[in-house]
Amino acid sequence: MQIQPRQSAGPSDCRSAEERLRECYRRLQILSRRLVEVQENERRSIARELHDEIGQTLTVAQLNLQTAAQSPAASSILPQLRASLEAVDKVLEQVHDISLNLRPSMLDDLGLQAALHWYFTKQTALAGLRVEFHVESPERRLDPIIETECFRIAQEALTNVIRHAQAKLLKVSLTADDKYLHLRVRDDGIGFEVAPEREKAVLGASLGLLSMEERASLAGGELEHISSPGKGTEVHAWFPLRTSASDKSTRLHANEILESTHSRYSR
Ligand SMILES: Nc1ncnc2c1ncn2[C@@H]1O[C@H](COP(=O)(O)OP(=O)(O)OP(=O)(O)O)[C@@H](O)[C@H]1O
Ligand SMILES: [Mg+2]
Repeated sequence: MQIQPRQSAGPSDCRSAEERLRECYRRLQILSRRLVEVQENERRSIARELHDEIGQTLTVAQLNLQTAAQSPAASSILPQLRASLEAVDKVLEQVHDISLNLRPSMLDDLGLQAALHWYFTKQTALAGLRVEFHVESPERRLDPIIETECFRIAQEALTNVIRHAQAKLLKVSLTADDKYLHLRVRDDGIGFEVAPEREKAVLGASLGLLSMEERASLAGGELEHISSPGKGTEVHAWFPLRTSASDKSTRLHANEILESTHSRYSR
């Protein structure tokens, strides 16, 4: 029996393996992007449902309780009515907050600038932080993926500042040129060593830093943390400003891949 020499991969095999890998990565990116769209649509519809259905029913209960509490016939059960009214007020507030945190309708109705301004003003006031805005981004509406991911990144950056930074002042800037939208969130807090924290995150210790990077990359952009102990923290995110035509074709392609995957698995 003759032993055949092991065939090593030739340059054309390597190239085709590399091409296949690149194609897989591209498909994965398109699917991840579609997944985020689906998740945001879900959140939008739950937020609306909470606000419109549950919120309105609770408002009716609130009005009825107020009317009942004012009636002279209710004097013997006034403490119970007042307690119920307080409970309904509280639940209404919670429903309102959950709905806004799921997906602020402002992001859909008025766009990124307005939503960021509203969200940061509200949250920093609650946390006792001073906030300064610098906005020079286009007035027109941007690609919905960019608006969503930029908002979610800013949201996580702010959550991290409130949870970890012990900051007093927060500076938020949103600027754009012809090609890129640039978000910067800078705090004057305690800062941290970025590389070791990122390594810990990769090993599963936390999600925030990695999800910010992932979100930026899903929108075709990049993200960077600049920080060191005692020097505060800056989060930068850049997003390419695409034309709507290329968006449409990417979305169409995503739907095609989803459909072909679906038919493959439902056979
Ligand atoms: N602005 C900041 N100032 C100081 N430390 C920060 C800041 N942002 C992040 N960090 C540090 O980096 C770590 C990792 O952040 P990351 O957002 O990944 O995790 P987390 O906020 O602890 O948890 P979660 O997974 O809920 O986001 C934090 O635990 C904190 O030590
Ligand atoms: Mg975090």
